[in-house]
Amino acid sequence: MPAIRLIYCADPLHPTQIDPIYAPECAAATHAGLDYALISYEALVQEQQAKRAVRRVAPAVEPTLAIYRGWMLCPADYRRLYAALAERNLHLINSPEAYRFCHYLPECYTAIADHTPRTVWLPLVESREPDFNAIMLALQVFGAAPVVLKDYVKSRKHEWAEACFIPSTSDRQAVERVVRRFIELQGEDLNEGLVFREYVAFEPLGAHSRSGMPLTREYRCFILDGAMLTRTAYWEEGDYDDAELPPETLFAGNIQRVRSRFFTLDVARRRDDGAWMIVEPGDGQVAGLPERLDPSDFYKALVSRLTGAQ
Ligand SMILES: Nc1ncnc2c1ncn2[C@@H]1O[C@H](COP(=O)(O)OP(=O)(O)O)[C@@H](O)[C@H]1O
Ligand SMILES: [Mg+2]
Repeated sequence: MPAIRLIYCADPLHPTQIDPIYAPECAAATHAGLDYALISYEALVQEQQAKRAVRRVAPAVEPTLAIYRGWMLCPADYRRLYAALAERNLHLINSPEAYRFCHYLPECYTAIADHTPRTVWLPLVESREPDFNAIMLALQVFGAAPVVLKDYVKSRKHEWAEACFIPSTSDRQAVERVVRRFIELQGEDLNEGLVFREYVAFEPLGAHSRSGMPLTREYRCFILDGAMLTRTAYWEEGDYDDAELPPETLFAGNIQRVRSRFFTLDVARRRDDGAWMIVEPGDGQVAGLPERLDPSDFYKALVSRLTGAQ
């Protein structure tokens, strides 16, 4: 089997041990025959010391494919990690450009626009004071439709009524209220700017047991080298019954346009006509495995695809 190295984050309290959250994945990867190394997330992100972050990673003798599985990184931190690992002959599966492409929704919007809710975005300047005249102008494309708000990466979906869902884009007061609350709640974690997406009624799955947000029958698909790797019900709770999984060839055209080797598409069906749509793309290295996806199945699929492909 060609050498592949998984990269996980160490437990901040025990730098030679894996972060306990990723321990089941790491065990599954090891079982599937993969090597792994640990980096310090704190050194990479908080101290901005990429070289220190990778100091426990043994250099590879030959150029070796590496796959990070861990916490989301901003594109600048990913770029630093990519470079520090490359110095050790470990080459992350996605280039910094590929990472950014799927991490920031506006970057890949054109690649998926024909199968995802209509979307507009506005970068936020340093002051983070939203320009509501510009926002209201941008929202005109929606008429008076409801929209969902997020930043370039994440929403506040669990604060649905307060900071995510805007019942009508013609209601300036509602827009201001939700946007201000969203910015406040995101705080330092806000990514780049505001993204508004036409609300689409997806097949419902009830309400979240803790936050009350409306759940939709969503599936997370991992895509590797242009083809589906896994397809799994996204939510831990909710009864998916025996609803059919997204077809293996779903969005094949879009997938070819996404400039990344390893990414996710979260998909759901429109309630009215059953048409599949893309809810959200993401980088495959920082997307969590759904609870219903056995890590062993994920890593077995990964190994079999990569060993066939390399
Ligand atoms: N355009 C939309 N129409 C209807 N529901 C949406 C829309 N966008 C997102 N949602 C709902 O909000 C949730 C969170 O949105 P998502 O884009 O996945 O953000 P996050 O990155 O926070 O998961 C989704 O799981 C879906 O249930
Ligand atoms: Mg999501």
